[in-house]
Amino acid sequence: MTSSTTPTTPSHMQAARISRFGAARDVFEVAHDAPVPTPGKGEVLVRQHATSVNPIDCRRRGGYGQKLMKLRGLSGFPLTLGNDVAGDVVATGPEVTTLKVGDAVFGAQRPSPQGTTAEYCVVNADDLVAKPAGLSYREAAALPYAFLSAWAALKAAGLRADEAAGKRVFLQGGSGGTGVVTVQICKALGAYVATTAGPAGIDLCKGLGADEVINYRTQDFADELRDFDFAICLADQAEERKMLSILRRGPGAGYATIVHPLMPLVDEKGLLVGGVQAAATLIGRRLRQALRRRRYGWTLFGPDRAALELLARLAAEGKVRAVIDQTYPLADIAAAHEYVERGRSKGKVVVDIT
Ligand SMILES: NC(=O)c1ccc[n+]([C@@H]2O[C@H](COP(=O)([O-])OP(=O)(O)OC[C@H]3O[C@@H](n4cnc5c(N)ncnc54)[C@H](OP(=O)(O)O)[C@@H]3O)[C@@H](O)[C@H]2O)c1
Repeated sequence: MTSSTTPTTPSHMQAARISRFGAARDVFEVAHDAPVPTPGKGEVLVRQHATSVNPIDCRRRGGYGQKLMKLRGLSGFPLTLGNDVAGDVVATGPEVTTLKVGDAVFGAQRPSPQGTTAEYCVVNADDLVAKPAGLSYREAAALPYAFLSAWAALKAAGLRADEAAGKRVFLQGGSGGTGVVTVQICKALGAYVATTAGPAGIDLCKGLGADEVINYRTQDFADELRDFDFAICLADQAEERKMLSILRRGPGAGYATIVHPLMPLVDEKGLLVGGVQAAATLIGRRLRQALRRRRYGWTLFGPDRAALELLARLAAEGKVRAVIDQTYPLADIAAAHEYVERGRSKGKVVVDIT
């Protein structure tokens, strides 16, 4: 199949870019003359209507993950951050069969120096699905990266969508960007969900359907909970021991975390020393949990079409809704980053690119 494009696609666009690492106010520029990228084989060009800011964007703006990005050929300036995609397909590259020009789509772009905080972005067609009609672009932008990140951990811990009903799932940090969508998906799949939140996030988590919400500022969840099948760290790895203490022993139980020392170790000590130290730590902890016949994992965001389709289906059925804390225009990208960096978001921070 050959490529196709809309005749109105311009050659230049607005894009939030950085040309060095540093504080949001110091390094962001919203360029008006950034080149519109061209989709390659299997890729599409999306006219973005919204994206979101994830904590990883703030960290990458500060230089986090550079050694791994360099290794993968993904470093260099100018750098446009962002992963969440919510927009319309305006061009398709060769061999794209699943999407066509005019399709409204959402999904998450793989790490790239030409990210999604721009009017146009190139995305692998397999990483996008049709945006449910009942979901606005802003709402759609609030869901994929956060959910796919948390879902990777749930999978590593051993949860399967078709076996989730009746499972007891503990999600640490239910009020954050990853927590708000994951609480809802686990509930929609029939799991029993307990979560932790600060005082300002308690009612939010209850409203999302969580069966138990524990105020982490005043109560110790390890005193309240026991016999969970899965425990997932979405906020603070310092509580790992406590999360393991509420897990039942035996096959089918597991712990996984999206907050772990892999990237910090590689950044600090280099690929070889940092990588080996991270691997040794991970293997040791895995073995300790294997003795209790439990899974243990550290996970990173990655594309997962089946999970994205699950998210789209549950959103279309009204079982998952976007929780948006703040929305900023593209011109205020530095303020959006500063807000996310404070770590107090209740749900997601969205960037409007209409
Ligand atoms: N490995 C990966 O690929 C991957 C992918 C996505 C995210 N992450 C990481 O995962 C973490 C969460 O991401 P996010 O987008 O959900 O962040 P976020 O939206 O910034 O999370 C903020 C929320 O976390 C709550 N929180 C903070 N500490 C808590 C604790 N000890 N217990 C319970 N709740 C707590 C805060 O509540 P209060 O304001 O009440 O304290 C706030 O509502 C970040 O560190 C992020 O970098 C990793």
